[in-house]
Amino acid sequence: MSEGKLKIPMHVGIILDGNGRWAKEKGMKRTAGHLAGYKNLKRISKYILNSGTKYLSVFAFSTENFNRPIEEVNYLMNLFIEGFNKDRKFFMKENIKVVFSGRREKLSQEVLHAMDKMMEETENNTNGVLNICLNYGGRAEIVDAVNKIIKDNKENITEEEFKKYLYRDLPDIDLMIRTSGEIRISNFMLWQISYAELYFPKCYFPDFNELEYDRAIEEYTKRDRRFGGTSKNE
Ligand code: IPE
Ligand code: IPE
Ligand code: MG
Repeated sequence: MSEGKLKIPMHVGIILDGNGRWAKEKGMKRTAGHLAGYKNLKRISKYILNSGTKYLSVFAFSTENFNRPIEEVNYLMNLFIEGFNKDRKFFMKENIKVVFSGRREKLSQEVLHAMDKMMEETENNTNGVLNICLNYGGRAEIVDAVNKIIKDNKENITEEEFKKYLYRDLPDIDLMIRTSGEIRISNFMLWQISYAELYFPKCYFPDFNELEYDRAIEEYTKRDRRFGGTSKNE
């Protein structure tokens, strides 16, 4: 990607959607779509974090996704265990720091162990942060923050202080992408997207490649972000 006149977002969020439909259209099982999605996550996170963006948050599994058939949930959990254990090497090589956001409850010891090892090993990497939202819900994050605040006996709190109680201390999301053509948020990072530019490409996540991302950045570059103020172009 030429960085000439392009605007580079500091923090990108992606709702990784459409794995199931991608597989179905190819006559494969939904789970094949999840495997393709996981492989693409490695590829696209490397590309995005090498383009100048410092933080990438991805929605990999929502608190509500536990309502899916048990076979699909189990497949995804095994994919996380095997993937995270195998790919510590990959993220070390790419110098990417991996962190997780979400509730630990309901996740098995094996999943938690794979997540913890990944975080420990990549902790000092400096070429960007990949925040994987797993068993994550935007409302759950806000409620969990409020409960921590109550425990701390706080009576009055500012937005800046509140932010520190979220799962991760990250800057706001600048560009939020949801693949697969669905135009909704589905409980993703409600606090962090308040002024994000939203972008909804039609392609399914396994097909969301470098070219598709470049298109998103071209579109983002054209947007006039006003944050409640007046246009810089006036
Ligand atoms: C996104 O793909 C991955 C997860 C939610 C885990 P989907 O599984 O939602 O795929 P579609 O939306 O059914 O095509
Ligand atoms: C949102 O996708 C959650 C993730 C991508 C992990 P869903 O496929 O679960 O969302 P809905 O059900 O279409 O809103
Ligand atoms: Mg979906």
